Amino acid sequence: MKIAITLGTRPEIIKMSPVIRELEKRRQDYFVLHTGQHYSYNLDRVFFEELKLPQAKYNLEVGSGSHAQQTASILIGVEKVLQDDTPDVLLVEGDTNSVLGSALAATKLHIKVGHVEAGLRSYDRNMPEEINRILTDHCSDYLFAPTPKARQILLGEGIPEEKIFVTGNTIVDAVFQNLEIAKGNSSSELRTLNLEPKNYFLVTLHRQENVDNPRRLASILEGLDKLAAEFRVPIVYPVHPHSLKKMKEFGLNPQKITLIEPVSFLDFLNLESNARLILTDSGGVQEEACILGVPCVTLRDNTERPETLEVGSNVLAGTLPGNILRCAQLMLHRENKWSNPFGDGRAGERIVKIIMEAKHG
Ligand code: UD1
Ligand code: UDP
Repeated sequence: MKIAITLGTRPEIIKMSPVIRELEKRRQDYFVLHTGQHYSYNLDRVFFEELKLPQAKYNLEVGSGSHAQQTASILIGVEKVLQDDTPDVLLVEGDTNSVLGSALAATKLHIKVGHVEAGLRSYDRNMPEEINRILTDHCSDYLFAPTPKARQILLGEGIPEEKIFVTGNTIVDAVFQNLEIAKGNSSSELRTLNLEPKNYFLVTLHRQENVDNPRRLASILEGLDKLAAEFRVPIVYPVHPHSLKKMKEFGLNPQKITLIEPVSFLDFLNLESNARLILTDSGGVQEEACILGVPCVTLRDNTERPETLEVGSNVLAGTLPGNILRCAQLMLHRENKWSNPFGDGRAGERIVKIIMEAKHG
């Protein structure tokens, strides 16, 4: 049996790494197809190097573009590779345009699709990720739900029970596999930035609905500036290039927060685990904060990670400065005794086992 893995962006590389490691361990016949959606060194190559992942066999180099351009290039490129290299199963992870384009190309060729991180819903169709998740789930043959809640959502949408497998989220595997290495990382950003553990806040912000909207982006940045003034702690923000482009375009220049380039996974784990508070609109970062026991304020009106709200590791602040301040205050006073709802760190192993044991007729 031959397995294909497609990935294209930073979170897909990180969250697929435990699956790739498991396939390597089993000496399974597989290949990696990179769509090239992310191509900057610090959104792409750095993760292959640091996580010691084998180079992708194919790179479509689709790059940036409108949703239609990007998704269409991925569809056409993935179809060609799948016709030439004929895998039995294609695995995708998450909710990006790379995921949707790859899943659609495979299912039209009658190649089985396995969706890692299936069943997440924000119920906000303005988000491109929500459309990608729904469509990918509904053309997949194996739906790897990270939690029982995600499984319930899929059942509620009429997906047959036998297609759904609760495996945990591979981000737990990735965190467990890398945290100790991260702690001993000699190139730690903490030292470079002169940060004291538990005495700074960490920010990430890159979602289209926040950064493409000048009013929302200005409001969040104003909230973060106010937070720095109120709590008198450094606020560090590794800026996604998408967000940097928009900040320049809208003439926004926050005064009190430290903007740095995106960092590697090990450096980011280090920054997260030592932060007093994390503020983010990222899906993966909400999960990691929960796993690492660091309180999180989500700069959105909704989340497809409701488990984090339920265990108390996360709160939704939206984008208004006053609400961001209030939510930060709330989370700083909350005891971080929650338990991680995303699994035991063996999701990659389970996913590969399920695929290997299935009949792909
Ligand atoms: C994409 C995903 C988003 C995911 C994020 C992970 C979609 C619709 N969005 O958002 O769900 O959370 O990746 O980080 O699939 N750019 C660079 N270098 C790169 C890639 C992008 O500079 O390597 C800049 C370009 O200006 C580009 C912009 O970022 O136009 C947006 O890139 P794109 O891949 O469209 O979306 P992301 O915002 O990265
Ligand atoms: N991340 C990283 N360096 C950074 C910021 C984030 O390695 O400077 C990692 C983070 O640990 C998480 C993933 O990127 O695993 C989240 O990706 P992102 O926020 O880009 O996308 P999302 O999860 O929102 O789709």
